[in-house]
Amino acid sequence: MGAPTGAGTYEELATIYRRAGFTRFSRALAVRLPELFDRFGRRPRRICDLACGTGDAAIQLAREGYDVTGIDISARMLAEARALGASAGVRVEWLQADARDFVLQRQVDAVTCMFDALNYLLTAEELGSAFKCVHDCLRPGGLFVFDMNTRAGLAEEWGTSERIETPDDDIFVAWQSTHDHETDVNTLVLTAFVRQGDGLYRQIREVHRERAYPLAEITQLLDQAGLDILLVGDLQLQPLARDSGRFLCVAERPEG
Ligand SMILES: C[S@@+](CC[C@H](N)C(=O)[O-])C[C@H]1O[C@@H](n2cnc3c(N)ncnc32)[C@H](O)[C@@H]1O
Repeated sequence: MGAPTGAGTYEELATIYRRAGFTRFSRALAVRLPELFDRFGRRPRRICDLACGTGDAAIQLAREGYDVTGIDISARMLAEARALGASAGVRVEWLQADARDFVLQRQVDAVTCMFDALNYLLTAEELGSAFKCVHDCLRPGGLFVFDMNTRAGLAEEWGTSERIETPDDDIFVAWQSTHDHETDVNTLVLTAFVRQGDGLYRQIREVHRERAYPLAEITQLLDQAGLDILLVGDLQLQPLARDSGRFLCVAERPEG
């Protein structure tokens, strides 16, 4: 297994993750999930949001009436999730666990994994282990909905520097990334300045690594884990283009 993500990632960043706008993607995807479930004639009741981060999507789903478990490897991200859930008065079961090696007490009807969390698994063995855990925690007929960055996304779209400033000037985030074309691993160095109560800025620095996998390899790993692909497309569910930076996949644990 590669170095766990806890080694310097999603630690201090957890404290600004939401305010810096990083939950927008999963909140928008969570809104679309009921329609996506409908499209496949499913009415899930129990959902596991894998690599749930600060729990925003999990909480949104719980508000919709789903029975939700949120799993993440980062204690700091989960602390943010717990706090948000408590202040929203929403019940979600939070579990600190590794996507590569987790079990649930009760099987669920759907597993979601949003905002390229699976790209953090840096070997095919790790990704395959995560798919196997997902398979085992899904009831037969259950759905697995996830998105990942493609090679075009990581090698081309990410190959630049970017920055975010919050409107109140309380947070500045900048990052720069480099893609290793041999390993398909992208290394992103993120620096943030966060204004404290005394007006001074505290600096955060984290290194994030994501790996791109060819779709054929992902398909094979899903198949080996016993999951059948129902749909792969871009975020609008249209066929993937060569330059699509991200794909959305719906897979199923077949009945029987
Ligand atoms: C880009 S964030 C996405 C968080 C959330 N899904 C969202 O959309 O905001 C990636 C998340 O994956 C989690 N993560 C990375 N590796 C993991 C692993 N091996 N097991 C569980 N969670 C992991 C990180 O802690 C982080 O919260």
